[in-house]
Amino acid sequence: MGFATPDTTESEPLSQAAAALRRAASALRSGGLVAFPTETVYGLGADATNDHAVAAIFEAKARPHFNPLIVHITGPDAGAAIAEWSDLADRLTTRFWPGPLTLILRRRPECGISKLVSAGGETIALRAPAHPLAAALLAETNLPIAGPSANRSGRISPTTADHVRQDLGDQVDMILDGGTCPVGVESTVLDIAGDRPALLRPGGIARSDIETVIGSPLANPPPVAGGDLRSPGQLESHYAPRHRLRLNARDVAVDEALLAFGPAPLAGARITANLSPSGDLTEAAANLFSMLHDLDREEIAGIATMPIPSTGLGEAICDRLRRAAAPLSTQALKAP
Ligand code: TXA
Ligand code: MG
Repeated sequence: MGFATPDTTESEPLSQAAAALRRAASALRSGGLVAFPTETVYGLGADATNDHAVAAIFEAKARPHFNPLIVHITGPDAGAAIAEWSDLADRLTTRFWPGPLTLILRRRPECGISKLVSAGGETIALRAPAHPLAAALLAETNLPIAGPSANRSGRISPTTADHVRQDLGDQVDMILDGGTCPVGVESTVLDIAGDRPALLRPGGIARSDIETVIGSPLANPPPVAGGDLRSPGQLESHYAPRHRLRLNARDVAVDEALLAFGPAPLAGARITANLSPSGDLTEAAANLFSMLHDLDREEIAGIATMPIPSTGLGEAICDRLRRAAAPLSTQALKAP
């Protein structure tokens, strides 16, 4: 039995993708770092069961060790083997997985996941990504993959392979290129380990959609103070562009760039990027980090951002912009 000669126009790209996937899987299995696309942003992946590989993530990102990582898995079955599962976890994952919802659950003592992933704590963050390449990588490796966003600590999250190359290119064994991430903001982080579900980070699944499944309003996390970090990603300035950001701008200076939203962008800016000319929040989320990356490369005095409604995905967009605008002094987690 022979194999048919591949048709170069059709199956060559496919076989190249398959070969890239195999190389990525093999790098992960041997403890390497692989940047991979998810539907939200690119992740910096490592075998979550390998302490050394997980430590290498922190080193590459220059991320302080007490910030715990999300573990990417294939679905609820893998989740129930790693963490204490519940009816609520079932309902939420039936509705939102695979997709941009991360659940915080209590880890099982014998789950085999590196303790460093949980920063030594009792809980673990799990999510099943919807991106076909991420799903294929999980299937190919048969490993849980620890993966924070593939940016240096304190920098803007990457939504293209190029962003990863610019920020972390020399730190990773391989970048799996899956094009532009369709959702564009990170997953919603929902803590269901305690008595009352709490939204730790707004993200790609809107609060109201989760509340519909839960049947009651979501609690917000208690304010972050000093060492009591429930979810360190909540710290104010976490997505720092080089340039100063001015929120809810009603006018724009000649030396500023404008990050606009909607059909009536402010006039007068030298450079304008419009998150969504039609005022669509999903489109705006998808464009957010890419446009911030682009504007940040311009020689300008600052970036003015127009007001954005905080409904639906707007909550995550406003949250990221607010953090990007926070003064550097609040970047408690920024590496020296
Ligand atoms: O969309 C996403 O979530 C992307 C893609 C790659 O999956 N990942 C991502 O990871 O944004 P990262 O590490 O940049 O953000 C993870 C967030 C942080 O705010 C972290 O503090 C929180 O999740 N987190 C992780 N484990 C936690 C835990 N056990 N308890 C509370 N918060 C946790
Ligand atoms: Mg991040």
